[in-house]
Amino acid sequence: MTNKIDPCTLVLFGASGNLARVKLYPGLFRLDSLGRLPADLKIVGVGRQVVDLEAWRADIKSMLDAKFKKGYDQAVFERFIARNFYHANPPTDPDAFSKLKATLSDESVFPQNLAYFLSVRPVDFAPVVESLANVGLTQEDKYWRRVVIEKPFGTDLPSAKELQAAITKHLKESQIYRIDHYLGKSALQNILLQRFTNTVLEPIWNNQYIDHVQITNTEMLGVGDRTQFYDSTGALRDMLQSHILQTLALTAMEQPKDLSPEGVRDAKIKLLEEIRPIPVSELEKHAFRAQYAAGEINGEKVPGYLEELGNNDSVVETYAALKLFIDNPRWKGVPFYIRTAKRLHEADTRISIRFKKAPLQINDQDQNWLIIGIQPRECIKLEVQSKIPGLDVQTRTIQLDAANRWDSDDSVDAYEALLLNLMQGDNSNYLHISEAEAQWRLVDPVVKAWAEDKKPVHQYPAGSRDPEASKVIFEAEDQFWRYSIELGGDK
Ligand SMILES: NC(=O)c1ccc[n+]([C@@H]2O[C@H](COP(=O)([O-])OP(=O)(O)OC[C@H]3O[C@@H](n4cnc5c(N)ncnc54)[C@H](OP(=O)(O)O)[C@@H]3O)[C@@H](O)[C@H]2O)c1
Repeated sequence: MTNKIDPCTLVLFGASGNLARVKLYPGLFRLDSLGRLPADLKIVGVGRQVVDLEAWRADIKSMLDAKFKKGYDQAVFERFIARNFYHANPPTDPDAFSKLKATLSDESVFPQNLAYFLSVRPVDFAPVVESLANVGLTQEDKYWRRVVIEKPFGTDLPSAKELQAAITKHLKESQIYRIDHYLGKSALQNILLQRFTNTVLEPIWNNQYIDHVQITNTEMLGVGDRTQFYDSTGALRDMLQSHILQTLALTAMEQPKDLSPEGVRDAKIKLLEEIRPIPVSELEKHAFRAQYAAGEINGEKVPGYLEELGNNDSVVETYAALKLFIDNPRWKGVPFYIRTAKRLHEADTRISIRFKKAPLQINDQDQNWLIIGIQPRECIKLEVQSKIPGLDVQTRTIQLDAANRWDSDDSVDAYEALLLNLMQGDNSNYLHISEAEAQWRLVDPVVKAWAEDKKPVHQYPAGSRDPEASKVIFEAEDQFWRYSIELGGDK
């Protein structure tokens, strides 16, 4: 399905920042190469430095050169570069936004539908919206106005509500596009399609057949040079509160009434609001945190988190696991284990579903697993029991394993998909405020309890599997952390 795009101007705040350089400009260029940008689209980069147009276009070229090392089509480059403009917004200039308005009002150059992408620090989201509104640049009459708010939308429920209150003084919900870039991934969008365009999955997608679900994101990387950012955030807020809960929502939600933005978001909101609050009085049975200690990754010695941070007192987690229950008839009694970790033995994002014991038990056989790989491998794999050929009656586990991505498929970056959706006016892959709030409501009590508990945090050696102690959150003794795709030795 392709949606029509109105002529529009994309105004990119934070145009010389890291995200813009690495994702947004290269993403827009790729969309142009694919012929997906409207012919008259213009892009206005906004930054606080004064830069002339020639220097700005040269800077964009350097972003593309850094990204596309094998080169790119010169004709597309000429077309793309001609779309680009720059506007300086020095913080000392009280008229900066009036000048932006004056620039944009030149209809002979700039289409009047305006999409603002706020790729600025989170503290600047509300002030930029306010400044745009003060000069009338958020008002929709003949033309639309859309605003993308980068992640994170608040750092807890009160700050998310505060940000929401500040921006909704000037914007309607339909104008606000809150980013969770996981939703731009084809592999995430595929969860919904695989569940509901096949007859075989839906009938078994419930507590009658499913023992439990694991949603996992593990990395081999450490925090790198982001120690200060990481220590003020932690694994729970950085990954679980956002990407992993969205993955859970797509995995567990009811079938949307249709694939419209409202249909999809309504079904996700309903699901997120049905997740049972985590009981802080028994937190140790529902949540586990740890930090990586020194260890080895790919044969190389790496330091521990506290060492990298230079502060032994930090209780901020680099490993977070939660057990969740969903209070609806489909999922009654089914635990959902969600976890994320840095410096584990493998980098993998996947959904692992274990089915209940089969009625016929031949030997000490495995239960069926269905695994949906998100990254690095986009795949779907079903493990089934099958007779070992021979004279005896014995079974073994075999795999039906299929790639969701073929070599011939386009590899579209999440930001490319989201930028296109923005121009199309399709916000189904952006967060509704109710989703952001439900996610904070769920994790806030855990974040608070963990921050207040200053006991040293459990340590796991970098490059290891999950800490043994994390198993405390399992409901049943026969449950275990499921690893990636290979069979054997993976319990
Ligand atoms: N980088 C990522 O991969 C990533 C991932 C997830 C989320 N995000 C989010 O994306 C946003 C941008 O991240 P980033 O890594 O690109 O940050 P960054 O490198 O610090 O870039 C932010 C840019 O904003 C500009 N800026 C600040 N105030 C401005 C204003 N009032 N008007 C116009 N420009 C302004 C600054 O440039 P000048 O000094 O030139 O104005 C700076 O280059 C943040 O909200 C972050 O949380 C980023």
